[in-house]
Amino acid sequence: MIALVTGTRTGVGKALAEHFLDRGDTVIGCSRRPSGIRHPAYRHHEIDLTDAAQARSMFRAVRREFGHLDALVNNAGTSVMNHFMMTPEKTARAVFDLNFFAVLNCCREAAKLLQKSPEGSAAILNVSTVAVPWALDGQLVYSASKSAVEQLTRVMSKELAVFGIRVNGIGLPPVRTVLTRTLAPETLDAVVERQTIGRLCEMDDIVGPVDFLTTGRSAFVTGETLYLGGVQ
Ligand SMILES: NC(=O)c1ccc[n+]([C@@H]2O[C@H](COP(=O)([O-])OP(=O)(O)OC[C@H]3O[C@@H](n4cnc5c(N)ncnc54)[C@H](OP(=O)(O)O)[C@@H]3O)[C@@H](O)[C@H]2O)c1
Repeated sequence: MIALVTGTRTGVGKALAEHFLDRGDTVIGCSRRPSGIRHPAYRHHEIDLTDAAQARSMFRAVRREFGHLDALVNNAGTSVMNHFMMTPEKTARAVFDLNFFAVLNCCREAAKLLQKSPEGSAAILNVSTVAVPWALDGQLVYSASKSAVEQLTRVMSKELAVFGIRVNGIGLPPVRTVLTRTLAPETLDAVVERQTIGRLCEMDDIVGPVDFLTTGRSAFVTGETLYLGGVQ
């Protein structure tokens, strides 16, 4: 499989890229800064995804080298944990630029390559958060940007079905990464306590559902966002 994962320098994206590589896939990754992943089947693009032209150049390179894609994982994201009264408009727009508009742009470019997938079940997977169904206070801008991504997932699944491309999401609970390192321990504990499975999510908990949603094993699943940890 040829998979493009965004935001592979750290955190969830790095773990997913390494998992795909271990499995024998070819992985194209990106981030603004250089990656530490060294593997013959890995290609890294140092780009800012909020710059549509830079994102397009990455997809052009994929087309030149491979001619198609089998999976796109829209993982790169940023957050702002703040009362909305303390969140300036500029900050809010920057969150939407990466979490929503960059995802929309990547999907547009990827769709041209995913429809050429010989696997017969090409997939887009968008990374979301439990902050959407739980409407967590202090995360208005972040969860609103991910709500937009979940709506994108639903609508795009219909618009891309005709091209044989499925579009799903995965809603993550807190995971220990750069993104969550500034969260107060009591904030993290309160969210974990709310989960049906009352422990912190590990990278190993994520790879199984990602495998399922990015391969033919979920060939009859589209337009869904799967939440981990139990959110009901
Ligand atoms: N960690 C959690 O608890 C948690 C919970 C729910 C959902 N999520 C979601 O999971 C995803 C991954 O989060 P994470 O915790 O793994 O975050 P992370 O460790 O901060 O990683 C984010 C990655 O995205 C890259 N990136 C950031 N801005 C970029 C840009 N403008 N252009 C290109 N690449 C960019 C970063 O590399 P550079 O800095 O080099 O660009 C990095 O590789 C996000 O969508 C997040 O919302 C995370």
